Amino acid sequence: MRVLVIGGGGREHAIVWKLLRSQRVNAVHCSPGNAGIARESGVECVALSLSAPFDDVALHCRRERVDLVIVGPEAPLVSGLADAMEDAGIPCFGACWQAAQLEGSKAFTRKLMAEAGVPSHGFEIFEDAKAAQDFYRSRPERWWIKADGLAAGKGAVMPGSVEEGCALLAEWLEGGKMGEAGKRVVIEEPLTGTEVSVIAFAQGETVRCLAPSQDHKRLLDGDQGPNTGGMGAFAPSPTLSEAQRAEIERDFLLPTLRALKKGGVELCGFLYAGIMMTPKGPRLLEYNVRLGDPEAQVILPMMENDLIDVVEAAIQGRLADVDMRVKPGAAVTVVAASEGYPASPRKGDIIEGLAEAESALGDDGKVFHAGTKEADGKIVTSGGRVLAVTALGSDLRSASDRAYEALGHIRWPGMQHRSDIAR
Ligand code: AMP
Ligand code: GLY
Repeated sequence: MRVLVIGGGGREHAIVWKLLRSQRVNAVHCSPGNAGIARESGVECVALSLSAPFDDVALHCRRERVDLVIVGPEAPLVSGLADAMEDAGIPCFGACWQAAQLEGSKAFTRKLMAEAGVPSHGFEIFEDAKAAQDFYRSRPERWWIKADGLAAGKGAVMPGSVEEGCALLAEWLEGGKMGEAGKRVVIEEPLTGTEVSVIAFAQGETVRCLAPSQDHKRLLDGDQGPNTGGMGAFAPSPTLSEAQRAEIERDFLLPTLRALKKGGVELCGFLYAGIMMTPKGPRLLEYNVRLGDPEAQVILPMMENDLIDVVEAAIQGRLADVDMRVKPGAAVTVVAASEGYPASPRKGDIIEGLAEAESALGDDGKVFHAGTKEADGKIVTSGGRVLAVTALGSDLRSASDRAYEALGHIRWPGMQHRSDIAR
């Protein structure tokens, strides 16, 4: 099979790496990819235009006889890449644009959840700044303010004070500071508890879950510092029992898929539920229609099944026949980021020690690349999150020890990482 993977981060490196473990895959293309993906044998990185109507992607698939497209990031899904592939007759794993509204519009998701009778916390949706501010002031405690649309991880804010919240609402709703994404906001009750990521293959009214995982969103040890895309992750999550995972599947994922289907929409792609385990039970923070990053870098290595078998079953409408198998033990990934991340990451630093890290990991781990590129035969940093060093182990402790041991070989000026991932 010839597979095209869309994207170029650590998540997509993990997808490509997992595909290369399949006997059924003989070529992988990746657009745009990164230096680590390009160095995998059997992989070609290509630069395709990823803007609608995606003619470039369809043309590439025909010319290169691509059998299957797997989409990593959300933006092309929200703008209709999977729909364009369907029109072109090219099998594609990834949500159609309507299903991608689960990630592309928080208001859409909240309304759908209410219709589906999914357990929810308090929320209100506003387009008018004055009404939003009045509501915000009326809350006995500070609530979260969220941009409705895609905002590259910057769309959910817990204001420092009521005044700050009201100012933010004016900036987004009247000032247009968040662009189209912030023309509508969801104001949401704050929840407390541990966050877990329940990520599944979804098709029609069926899901098959990967190992539940957790990521560390703050930059610094002890969950301090600014929010990031994720500084590390681990699986399986010890917070979630198998019974609780099954409960989340029953009470959140399946009613969501049924509600979509009632509206004539079928999801065939990844479905990621960001869940807060509150004292009142699990509550949904967000849906994504993709794998998490860096969660993918632990849940794909923990997946026993051949990725192609599962994706193909979903596309052919027989995901229900798949028996998902998770490897025993645990996986931990530690992200290494460049100086200045997340505010203003520096680029162009030469990365050293990659080969030593790879050999320390052997077959039980992998250095996944994210923001890297090749320049003059050297691998240099080219983004905020640069690498994710994943190790497998018999338990979380041994996996994290091994990930940190491998990471210890890697260096570049200003490299940042947390020291407490999975600890
Ligand atoms: P979201 O984009 O909705 O997933 O929000 C991003 C992050 O903000 C989440 O992963 C949580 O850490 C935090 N967050 C969002 N909404 C809430 C909430 N209602 N209560 C507590 N934390 C939240
Ligand atoms: N790691 C969080 C996310 O991918 O959304």
